[in-house]
Amino acid sequence: MSVKPVLKMGHPTLLSRSEEVSQFDTAELHALIQDMKDTMTHLNGAGIAAPQIGVLKRVVIFGFEANVRYPSESAVPFTILINPTIECLNETMEEGIEGCLSVPGLSGSVPRHTKIRYRGYDPLGDAIDRTVTDFHARVVQHECDHLDGVLYPARIKDFSTFGFIE
Ligand code: NI
Repeated sequence: MSVKPVLKMGHPTLLSRSEEVSQFDTAELHALIQDMKDTMTHLNGAGIAAPQIGVLKRVVIFGFEANVRYPSESAVPFTILINPTIECLNETMEEGIEGCLSVPGLSGSVPRHTKIRYRGYDPLGDAIDRTVTDFHARVVQHECDHLDGVLYPARIKDFSTFGFIE
């Protein structure tokens, strides 16, 4: 498999809604996931969504032990999440700095729910059901937004936080 080009903000595919995966454990699905892994690893991403490599399927992957893009954040278990749904478990939203492989060189502060339950499926079709907080919750909300065509700049409230990293 291979490292794929990542679509950049402005590409219409990134604003599209992705389709549900209807068949699990297929060669096509495993190949897509391998491409996403290779691409995310190559770019030191904390997560990536299928539409970012041009595939409009509801598949996201995320997780890291330690991440150079987010050095102060604690580890998030590596997860492949298909057809995800998110339930927000509290009203509390917290601002936190985000970046995105589709918005290279920039970062900004985005409000996200601090506690969520997320459900979905792994590549074999087995159910995933987790309740998580803080950065793990933030990463899941960011990646799942991609499946509905939402990039993080659209969620920024305070644009004084948005700018080039360097
Ligand atoms: Ni992103």
